[in-house]
Amino acid sequence: MPKLKTRTAQAAIGVRDSRLTPLVLVPGGWEDFSLIDSGAGRKLERYGETLLIRPEPQAFWHPAAPDLWRDAAGEFLGAEAEEDGRWRFRDARPEPWEMGYGTIRFRARCTPFRHLGFFPEQAVHWDFAAARIAARRAEGGNSPKVLNLFGYTGIASLIAANAGAEVTHVDASPRAVAMARENQALSGLDSAPIRWIVDDCLKYLAREAKRGMRYDGIILDPPKHGRGPKGEIWRLDEGLSDLLLACRAVLGERPLFVAATIYAVRASFLALHQALAGALSGLPGEVESGEMALAEQAGGRLLPTAIFARFRGK
Ligand SMILES: C[S@@+](CC[C@H](N)C(=O)[O-])C[C@H]1O[C@@H](n2cnc3c(N)ncnc32)[C@H](O)[C@@H]1O
Repeated sequence: MPKLKTRTAQAAIGVRDSRLTPLVLVPGGWEDFSLIDSGAGRKLERYGETLLIRPEPQAFWHPAAPDLWRDAAGEFLGAEAEEDGRWRFRDARPEPWEMGYGTIRFRARCTPFRHLGFFPEQAVHWDFAAARIAARRAEGGNSPKVLNLFGYTGIASLIAANAGAEVTHVDASPRAVAMARENQALSGLDSAPIRWIVDDCLKYLAREAKRGMRYDGIILDPPKHGRGPKGEIWRLDEGLSDLLLACRAVLGERPLFVAATIYAVRASFLALHQALAGALSGLPGEVESGEMALAEQAGGRLLPTAIFARFRGK
């Protein structure tokens, strides 16, 4: 009985556990993009010269500079979870427009899915991948092989190729791959070694493992729900552990990196960290994890966007 009392007291006080300390990753200055303000369940962003308002359920606070919101060219109306939200524009709907990240060029567009065809907070992984690839290139030897899973419009693929990797980009949607190829041309990377694959990510990984293909780096940003080109159902909650093990099966002995991001699910960085660390156990390197966020200009707050875990090879 006295033992039980002691335990209860300890639990009530809480014990600081230093095994896993979260990082908060925030992209640095980016000329063509900024989060200007957020609050009251919305965010005001600048994409090139276009100001747009989108729903942001985590903006629990008040906007810091309400006057700035009047300049927005459009707003996406509808809650985060709604499929039938829509854009409303002050003037005509803007045609897709060009933006840049360093030397990489790509088109932004107001998609029916609320976003602009890319995810600015991913810049932290673009830089990470580019730095890891450059470090391996500096050691000499062959170009690192990088796999971009659920690669969508391909910015991560272009950045990895530009840094000197041979890239395999996999996405279920021929339309997404077509947009990625347009971005390749816009970036002047037509002759860069990128294989564009329309396939289901899990099926593709299984085939690559069978063929004995090995990669040095993997970027994966699996959606909550998705479909392969033949209607294969993807559900993150059921499929993530198999996906991570399938990634492990195609990694070489001394991988450079794996960067995994998860959006819009009720999951903690602790869960993702342990899933990735478990899948990659035995490989030389370390897993770090935490949240990704965007720094707001007007109020200086950090707006959380996703959780991540990433492996940094030794
Ligand atoms: C949220 S986007 C990924 C974002 C992207 N990584 C980026 O940073 O821009 C989701 C992508 O996953 C693709 N997708 C969904 N289910 C898939 C599957 N089973 N296999 C391959 N791609 C899939 C979709 O076509 C879509 O392009």
